[in-house]
Amino acid sequence: MSTNTIQGTALITGASSGIGATYANRLAKRGYDLLLVARDQSRLETLAADLRKTTSAKVEVLKADLTDASDVSAVEQRLRNDASITLLLNNAGVATNSALAEADLNEVDRLIQLNIVALTHLASAAAAGFVARGRGAIVNIASVVPMIPERFNAVYTASKAYVLSLTQSLNAEISDKGVQVQAVMPGATRTEIWERAGMDINAFPAEMVMDVNEMVDAALAGFDQKELVTIPSLANVADWDAFVNARLALGPNLSLQHAAARYKTPGA
Ligand SMILES: NC(=O)c1ccc[n+]([C@@H]2O[C@H](COP(=O)([O-])OP(=O)(O)OC[C@H]3O[C@@H](n4cnc5c(N)ncnc54)[C@H](OP(=O)(O)O)[C@@H]3O)[C@@H](O)[C@H]2O)c1
Repeated sequence: MSTNTIQGTALITGASSGIGATYANRLAKRGYDLLLVARDQSRLETLAADLRKTTSAKVEVLKADLTDASDVSAVEQRLRNDASITLLLNNAGVATNSALAEADLNEVDRLIQLNIVALTHLASAAAAGFVARGRGAIVNIASVVPMIPERFNAVYTASKAYVLSLTQSLNAEISDKGVQVQAVMPGATRTEIWERAGMDINAFPAEMVMDVNEMVDAALAGFDQKELVTIPSLANVADWDAFVNARLALGPNLSLQHAAARYKTPGA
């Protein structure tokens, strides 16, 4: 029997490397059992064996290609039916280096399938189970790029804007039902994602690139503080609050019976 029945099980997508593998390590040390999801089964098995040796976590591996609808559905079913799962880390994602006009649309579709469609299905399945049980947490890994859309390619940036928006609305839908929701918005973090997308992380000034351990530890500190949105490098949280307040100030004028004066046709 598991010793980790209090925390329950964390299902981590993209657990075979980078941010997901680092969360696996930290969550195991925090007393979670783990369900590790990614395509590379041998890397997952190696990580699982290491964590079984170094922590008391029960660790299971579930090989899935989350661009494949039937694999997504299998993970979804697990989230719906396994009451031991208390945390979903929606982390698997890919980047691209292509401008939209030059993009390979098959690659674009795979990115959308992974970063948006799979993430949405898994969040929905987890939300259903967690709301029914009045307990659980959903952590979605977004990015800071929606804050600087002019400086990064369209498809990746828009996919992460989707993750942020989904998280904010999902929180409004379920946070009063005992479910914690968090969007993590990392800046550039030293992982394989850059090389996989044909980019060189070393092209960034070193002071802009965070070590993955520091990034995940900060994200978990934000989780412990029950933050809805965590930007690991943002020193002054008042800056984020000001951004949210500026958005909320638009509220009273976003949907009105009449167009604004500057859009009125002269003489009409
Ligand atoms: N690193 C950064 O600078 C940074 C910044 C902001 C946000 N993020 C976000 O952080 C998340 C994790 O990325 P990372 O930086 O840790 O990169 P990474 O090391 O490349 O990890 C990506 C993970 O996703 C998995 N994955 C990729 N395609 C998959 C598929 N079709 N089905 C299932 N799993 C798949 C990979 O495993 P397999 O290859 O074994 O399937 C891997 O475990 C992503 O959502 C990324 O957008 C990263």
